[in-house]
Amino acid sequence: MGNLIIKPKKRKLLLNQTSQSSFSNRPIIFRREGERESFEVFQTYQMIDGRVFRMDNKRYPMPCDAPEKKRLHMQHYIFKEVWNGNFSSPIHERLKQGMRVLDSGCGVGSWTLDMANEYPASTFVGVDVIEVAPINIRPSNAELLQFNLLNGILFPNETFDFIYQRFLWAAFTESQWITLVDELIRVTKTGGWIELTEFQAKIYNPGPIAKKLSDAAQQHLSLNGINPKIHLQIPKIMADTNKFTSIESIEKIIPLGNWQETSRGIKVLETIAGGLKSLQVALKMVLGVDNYEYEKMLKQFIVEGSKYKMYIKVFCFYGMKAETSETQ
Ligand SMILES: C[S@@+](CC[C@H](N)C(=O)[O-])C[C@H]1O[C@@H](n2cnc3c(N)ncnc32)[C@H](O)[C@@H]1O
Repeated sequence: MGNLIIKPKKRKLLLNQTSQSSFSNRPIIFRREGERESFEVFQTYQMIDGRVFRMDNKRYPMPCDAPEKKRLHMQHYIFKEVWNGNFSSPIHERLKQGMRVLDSGCGVGSWTLDMANEYPASTFVGVDVIEVAPINIRPSNAELLQFNLLNGILFPNETFDFIYQRFLWAAFTESQWITLVDELIRVTKTGGWIELTEFQAKIYNPGPIAKKLSDAAQQHLSLNGINPKIHLQIPKIMADTNKFTSIESIEKIIPLGNWQETSRGIKVLETIAGGLKSLQVALKMVLGVDNYEYEKMLKQFIVEGSKYKMYIKVFCFYGMKAETSETQ
């Protein structure tokens, strides 16, 4: 498999810095010839098998290109339907009155922008390591910022009334989760809410191909120091902070395919197959197959969904930040 590193075109650009390591996360400052303005190009992209990956968080196995962004956007609406709404915390009335909300690891900002349209009196900030959506599609009460959550959350203490974070199961080690949850609590106001929604990277009732893919996903995560069962740890990580009044947990079983007589099962099956497509670069190495074989497996995976009555589990954990001696 050939790895292609995307480098800025040097012909039109003058390097304004002495060293240019071939592949580092340090910003490299370039200046266009004849232009006064400088801009930064972060050498943080890598193209593998035609998919583009950010290298800021090397553990994260999903690409950050247009097909992945489209997938995330479609997935948002499917899971909104699955959860019968955009959140589970009891904050609907407060959102109508006006809350300050953070969408942590917002992807393309689908949840952020959807919520901003639904609750015009509240303000929303989505943050993600990937590039933000074009400014012209943002409602005036929404902002999308690009930064790496592993560098801390760049907001002062007690900034937000509600923090939402969805599907970052493949991004962090357990110790990074502990640090991140501390950060989420730090930037949440006392009496504010934190809600974390996560997948379990496992297919239940798998057919033979689904089992191979599900096992490979778990193996890949483990090899990268990521706990494939982080959903079991999250409520404990939250509870161990002693900063929540209580923690609610919801587990949802979601059928894959049409075996439950709803069209939703087909849509979820397709979005999970889309997720597996995004994991192709990582999983085909674990499985020892080439692109042709992997794509054939994905087609068989779709067929197996209804045949074996496959399902997945998704979890939601939420709680209110308690008043502590530090905040009194
Ligand atoms: C599966 S996507 C979910 C996106 C969004 N929460 C949603 O539900 O549509 C996971 C997101 O986590 C982001 N991510 C991974 N590591 C990150 C990091 N270290 N800092 C910020 N975002 C990160 C990825 O770029 C990706 O957009």
